[in-house]
Amino acid sequence: MPGALHRNTLTVAAGYDAKAHHGSVKPPLFNTSTFSYHSAQHAKDVHAQYFRATPPEDGADPGYIYARLDHPNMGMLQARLAVLDGAEDAAVFNCGMAAINAIAQAFLRPGNTVLHTRPIYGGTDGLLYSHLVQFGITPFGITDALDPDSVRSAARAAMAGGRVGLIMVETPANPTSGIADISLIAAVAAEIAALQGHKPLVAVDNTFLGPFQQNPLAQGADLCMTSLTKYAGGHSDLLAGGVSGAAAPIHTLKQLRTVLGSHLDAHTCWMVLRSLETMHLRTERAGENARAIASFLRTHPAVTAVNYVGFVDPDSRVGRVFARQCRGAGSTFTFKIRGGEAAAFRMLDRLRVIHMAVSLGGTETLICHSATTTHFNVPEQRRLEVGIDENSLRISVGVEHQDDLIEDLRQALEAV
Ligand SMILES: Cc1ncc(COP(=O)(O)O)c(C=O)c1O
Repeated sequence: MPGALHRNTLTVAAGYDAKAHHGSVKPPLFNTSTFSYHSAQHAKDVHAQYFRATPPEDGADPGYIYARLDHPNMGMLQARLAVLDGAEDAAVFNCGMAAINAIAQAFLRPGNTVLHTRPIYGGTDGLLYSHLVQFGITPFGITDALDPDSVRSAARAAMAGGRVGLIMVETPANPTSGIADISLIAAVAAEIAALQGHKPLVAVDNTFLGPFQQNPLAQGADLCMTSLTKYAGGHSDLLAGGVSGAAAPIHTLKQLRTVLGSHLDAHTCWMVLRSLETMHLRTERAGENARAIASFLRTHPAVTAVNYVGFVDPDSRVGRVFARQCRGAGSTFTFKIRGGEAAAFRMLDRLRVIHMAVSLGGTETLICHSATTTHFNVPEQRRLEVGIDENSLRISVGVEHQDDLIEDLRQALEAV
């Protein structure tokens, strides 16, 4: 493909060459678990190539072995994702948590510490605080990921606890939309490297904005992780995850994926590849709807707060980081109502158009009461410290007509 094309163009075609597939404009689906070799020597060569970190020098297609290791649909999706994220390569997994788990297992060792922004997605929180601690890995939360002193003080605490193996950043954060300064954290990672002699990789969870609105690698992150289940898949009908970055760490992740068995199957790769073609259109429309809904909620007497990043003051610290880092405000945010859990439940039970469900990034609008659903398992104190209380509702705005969504919320809020 010619270089310097816009992402909106690349997302329609990158990673797929019709000429290599009988001119088929759309990619074929390779529904096979295993691949035959042309000869015994080819079998040996293809196995040798699989374990190498670099592609063959003559550009020859190395061939495939077994679908858990790699398969053509995974290759197409990875190539497209890498282009969209501005990365050398990408690895896809059978869900976002599998991608996060692979990052943790690949780059953390017993006795390490892991720095992370707060809040962090409930599943990641569970991985850090319930699972990895059993392997001698200690998490340290950053209280204010926009403030250099706060980031450095968390880094010092983590270094005192052991070698910092990884820095996990989620921005905007689920569900509060809290923003972390990626380039600040990348600079602190370099300082940590100078002090401890090992550079912790900075892995950014880009699920809330995706490649059309935020590119963490361009801000200094080493890895960009995305739950493709959300805006990339975009229709709430599949689960997938992706990690983009430099060739070397992605090779490590792909090798680990093989032994974890967390590859993405051919059909789901094909579905995500197709969905990526319309991702920018969906995110644009959902973003317009989200702004309209957030504006409506902001003036409603039953609503006490709207954490929509599109409303940040451009002259504030968060506003400046938002302007440098993000090209859009996304369409998932939290708002708070009066009356606690009982009022929230009454309101939710009256909704007619908006679906009550966890997850986000689909064509349909979804809403959930974070404290009793996505963050049910996060201990109350840690939940409250980051502002997820009984009044918090997370909404993922879809592509329906905004007037219908606003009318649905208006009639439901009468119950508060
Ligand atoms: C910010 C964020 N990261 C990661 C995940 C995990 O993704 P998946 O459900 O695809 O495993 C989610 C899921 O909701 C999420 O919201």
